Amino acid sequence: MRGAVIPADPQEAPAFQQALLDWFEAHARDLPWREPRFRKDPYAVLVSEIMLQQTRVETVIPYFLSWMETWPVVHALSCASEEEVLSAWQGLGYYNRARRLHRAAKQVVEEHEGRLPTTTSTLQDLPGVGPYTARAIAALAFGERVVAVDGNVARVWARLSCSEVDITRSQAKRAAREALEPLAPADDAGVFAEALIELGARVCTPAGPSCDACPVATWCEAHGAGKVDEVPAPREAREIPTVPVLALLVQDGEGRVLVRRRPSDGLLGGLWGLPMAEVPEAGRRATRARSLVEAPVDLDEAPVGEVVHTFTHKRWQVHVHRAWVERTPDAPSLTWQAPEDLDALARSTLDRKVERLLTQAEVAPFG
Ligand code: ADE
Ligand code: SF4
Repeated sequence: MRGAVIPADPQEAPAFQQALLDWFEAHARDLPWREPRFRKDPYAVLVSEIMLQQTRVETVIPYFLSWMETWPVVHALSCASEEEVLSAWQGLGYYNRARRLHRAAKQVVEEHEGRLPTTTSTLQDLPGVGPYTARAIAALAFGERVVAVDGNVARVWARLSCSEVDITRSQAKRAAREALEPLAPADDAGVFAEALIELGARVCTPAGPSCDACPVATWCEAHGAGKVDEVPAPREAREIPTVPVLALLVQDGEGRVLVRRRPSDGLLGGLWGLPMAEVPEAGRRATRARSLVEAPVDLDEAPVGEVVHTFTHKRWQVHVHRAWVERTPDAPSLTWQAPEDLDALARSTLDRKVERLLTQAEVAPFG
């Protein structure tokens, strides 16, 4: 896939670059990871860019700050336990990011004497660091002349070049890089890369971009052609399947509930919550329940509550059923916990939703 040259007249490249950089200098938000003490710290860039991959800026801010306070350097993170890392991440979602970041820190300490690799290609050997994050670190922290193309920047590129390709494809991202990288200043590619990210987030937004306020509107093909609303081509809405999930509310005589730590490799891996599993067929509930708590179990037919939670690719319809175990299960992944002590364990937003529902509905021992 070859993209158009941006701007269409290569002679205009310096003016384009200057307009974008001037706009960024005047309008960039004050975000913590842009403070000088973090901006040239490759570890801080790694942390912030991983957090920002699938989470909104406003949500990320407090997590980033407390993360950098807890683990100010990569060595500190490499010494943390997985439980601590997941606890610090809870509420940010996509927990694999946290586990990979943790592994990346260990790898940096074990294989690179505690210093992050310095180039786009070597950075990509770290767990969780793909083409986007590697370029963000290389440009922002090391000044390599690259741009980091996430969904926002791909959209900016598609509009500037009035390209109707599907910007979610990796070829489109590559075309965007090839078109935008030659525009980056040789001496400070980082600011340019971040200016593109900022433009996509603040001005060239998915619906109703603010072309009147856009520093590069003069060079924008989609704007010139009046096709801003048609580019990039809307992605076909995907049907997200709904999957029934069985969750067990097992209580002991002291008002504690049975909670289970999910296996590391699955959805919400490593996080604690009521024992739960996908059970597409109601007829298999009893068998699944038994394997979840590793003991014979009695299950109430009617659920005490229901929670719906949407992931990127599927929707869980969680039915909470009261259950009784015949004997206390004995497995490291299972423990009894009083509802008020659940905060000691790393849980997901979904698990908190379930707990909130049970509390609001006054279901013992939560209510
Ligand atoms: N999204 C991804 N990277 C970002 C950054 N550096 N600043 C603001 N939003 C971002
Ligand atoms: Fe985006 Fe409009 Fe600027 Fe073009 S002119 S880059 S569509 S904001």
